[in-house]
Amino acid sequence: MARVKLGCLISGRGSNLQALIDACADPTFPAEIALVLSNKPGVMGLERAEKAGIPTQVISHKDFDGRPAFDAALDQTLRAAGVEIVCLAGFMRLLTPEFVTGWGDKILNIHPSLLPAFKGLDTHQRAIDSGARFAGCTVHIVRPAMDEGPILVQAAVPILDGDTEDSLAARILTAEHKAYPEAVRLLASGKVTVDGLRCRIDAPTDETIHFNPPMR
Ligand code: GRF
Repeated sequence: MARVKLGCLISGRGSNLQALIDACADPTFPAEIALVLSNKPGVMGLERAEKAGIPTQVISHKDFDGRPAFDAALDQTLRAAGVEIVCLAGFMRLLTPEFVTGWGDKILNIHPSLLPAFKGLDTHQRAIDSGARFAGCTVHIVRPAMDEGPILVQAAVPILDGDTEDSLAARILTAEHKAYPEAVRLLASGKVTVDGLRCRIDAPTDETIHFNPPMR
């Protein structure tokens, strides 16, 4: 069976990209990465893709006069590569509504909080400061507003006494690396129906709603 082609947009480290690369290495996984696009040259995510033999391209936002022109270049490049699902994996640019609506329900983002709580930046510290007992990550279908859209996969992890931004981020990142491939697997295998803000999922697994027990 033909595998669904992914286009991954990155800006940096690319550890979530690596999780997707690793998942796609299994021939039974329903997707493959056709292209990795970075808005920054020289980042670790590009090295990871090159090492895996995946085509890469850098499109710097600095070379464009405004967001619409940059997004149009991204869009054109992704479509020329035959991309069917766009995965934002640490892509640090906001996308225009035109770009987002043009891809319908076929753009995914991962955010290191249990959305709809703690959208935006400094999310780990804000979660700690709130006194919440749980944090986590969310993979969602992208809508024009930042960190909004139907939630596909979530994983919860505990916030422990004494956690720092870094210790919590590391715990969540481990969960992210399971959640993103699971979300891609569901979407690429046609198991997702979007109904308003709810994703209805045919045959969810334990990884779809994932809970990491306290780490003691
Ligand atoms: C992750 O925490 C992701 O949730 C957020 O940005 C970070 C990217 O990390 N959107 P990486 O580049 O995937 O390692």
